[in-house]
Amino acid sequence: MNRILLLPGDGIGPEVTREARRVLEAAAGRFDLKLEFEEGLIGGAAIDAEGTPLSDAVVETARQCRAVLMGAVGGPKWDALGVDVRPEKGLLRIRKELGLFANLRPARMVPALVGASSLKPEVVAGLDLLVVRELTGGIYFGEPRGRSEVAGRRSACNTMVYDEDEIVRISKVAFESARKRRGEVTHVHKANVLDVSQLWVEVVEEVAKEYSDVTLSHQLVDSMAMLLLRDPQRFDVIVTGNLFGDILSDEAAELTGSLGMLPSASLGEGGVGLYEPVHGSAPDIAGEDKANPLAAILSVAMLFEHSLDAVAAAAAVQDAVAAALAEGHRTGDLVGDTGVTPVGCREMGDIVLAKLSES
Ligand code: IPM
Ligand code: MN
Repeated sequence: MNRILLLPGDGIGPEVTREARRVLEAAAGRFDLKLEFEEGLIGGAAIDAEGTPLSDAVVETARQCRAVLMGAVGGPKWDALGVDVRPEKGLLRIRKELGLFANLRPARMVPALVGASSLKPEVVAGLDLLVVRELTGGIYFGEPRGRSEVAGRRSACNTMVYDEDEIVRISKVAFESARKRRGEVTHVHKANVLDVSQLWVEVVEEVAKEYSDVTLSHQLVDSMAMLLLRDPQRFDVIVTGNLFGDILSDEAAELTGSLGMLPSASLGEGGVGLYEPVHGSAPDIAGEDKANPLAAILSVAMLFEHSLDAVAAAAAVQDAVAAALAEGHRTGDLVGDTGVTPVGCREMGDIVLAKLSES
């Protein structure tokens, strides 16, 4: 029995998670995988109900599960709260508690969506890259951090810190991933300024010696932000720290047409994987049945692959999404100036389910 913990969260989280769950159940049924669901609170929903963005009880349940499927956290209602009690803290805590140091964010151009990107078709056609983002270290978690008063002035600090073991393990994930793809790793850093980045360059080079079949290059993060717009097709696997990975993965997502398309998997040494769309809680459209559920549904495909070892089920889900798009169905975020009438979140879920049963 495979226990799955659902953490719908805030904003559009619940609606996209609902569609993702339906697809998860349908595909599991087809491939004879037994699932059992738990549901818990995270983010603002948990703050409102339990006074904390993630309770110990939910962490405990997550540890007992094979995988966690998350929606999104955050919203204007909780924006005034300090960083330690905000909805986002719940997400950061579950990543840390489960030791999910490797965040995989694949950005692939679905052929049917080439026109939805804000970039020229010839720039983005065929785009297929994987951001491997370090997820439990760096400036997100470094100490010291916090606010203080220095000489009567408000002051605040965060610390970007990595040790070599953290860099080794994420580098290995990147090189292993590249072996299954086009065999190229681009390490993104700011080594012309940051000591931390110099250590990354050094350690990634050392790890590369064990992967002579993979080509390694290094790219400064500022120039990488530019190259992703100019020539994104040339990248295969991108490995980088927590903060740079956060920023570049949103950029990569937009290249593929919409942030609403990008799934992610967070993996670690423990047995539990966490799957979530890269997009946020989109409070402006929450509850209106306008959200794009495809990033959440594609996260289900990643769950099949990485947590249930069910590659065929993963492929079936991906194919169903591609078929729905090929037939011209679009949620509002993908419509652009095509004049297509958008479908809602639920309807897109229905369409993907129909494609899944036809395949
Ligand atoms: C992401 C999000 C999170 C992050 C936030 C919600 C804490 O932006 O998963 O990319 O910064 O990691
Ligand atoms: Mn982000």
